[in-house]
Amino acid sequence: DSIRLEVTRYRPEGDSGPEVQEYDVPLRKEWTVLDGLNHVKDEVDTTLAFRWSCRMGICGSCGMNVDGEPKLTCATFLSDYAPGPVRVEPLANFPIVRDLVVDLYDFMEKLPRVKPWIIRDDDLTVIDGEYLQTPEELDAYKQFSMCINCMLCYAACPVYGLDPEFIGPAAIALAERYDLDSRDRGARERLDVLIEHEGVWGCTFVGECTRVCPKHVDPAGAIQRYKLKAAKENVMAFLLPRGAR
Ligand code: FES
Repeated sequence: DSIRLEVTRYRPEGDSGPEVQEYDVPLRKEWTVLDGLNHVKDEVDTTLAFRWSCRMGICGSCGMNVDGEPKLTCATFLSDYAPGPVRVEPLANFPIVRDLVVDLYDFMEKLPRVKPWIIRDDDLTVIDGEYLQTPEELDAYKQFSMCINCMLCYAACPVYGLDPEFIGPAAIALAERYDLDSRDRGARERLDVLIEHEGVWGCTFVGECTRVCPKHVDPAGAIQRYKLKAAKENVMAFLLPRGAR
């Protein structure tokens, strides 16, 4: 048995825009979409360009649109699309570098704005050189630390598609990951960034980011919590005299 892949091809040095090329690959129960692409690369057409590394849903590099849905191709089985064909396209909302490879520079530029690292304070208890946490303190942020920067949420986000200035779901979810960490004291600085024009207020709560996340991080939930936090601050600022805030 075989299944047909309809794969986007794009050569930046060529005269034409993206085109579709068809490849028939073996349909095996245990084969993923990434296995199908690797079969093409190894046996049929060595010029096909795509990214991958770990093949186990950890590195986040193999994200592509599969039949219009952002997916980790190493965790998406060909048999789920039988009898086919299956469309394999680069992630939406990013410039294409070549074939299925997209340019992630925009995210790399935005991510540092939310300071995705622990901002310490000297009053934290240090025991033997370590900042200790209880299991409960770990649980508070653990799910948000599962983000693998695969960019599926950006590809699914209609707001980012319309307004590339929007800081985007993964950056906001990573901000919350550090805000929820008991060792961190950077929440104020992050909130100041996220309530700016291109921050959380850009989100119209479509929720696609949370739906497509392969690691069950919840960027949409993080965005709503930040909005609530900012709104509470505004209300307090309105109600309380300056000296009492
Ligand atoms: Fe690493 Fe798919 S190849 S997540």
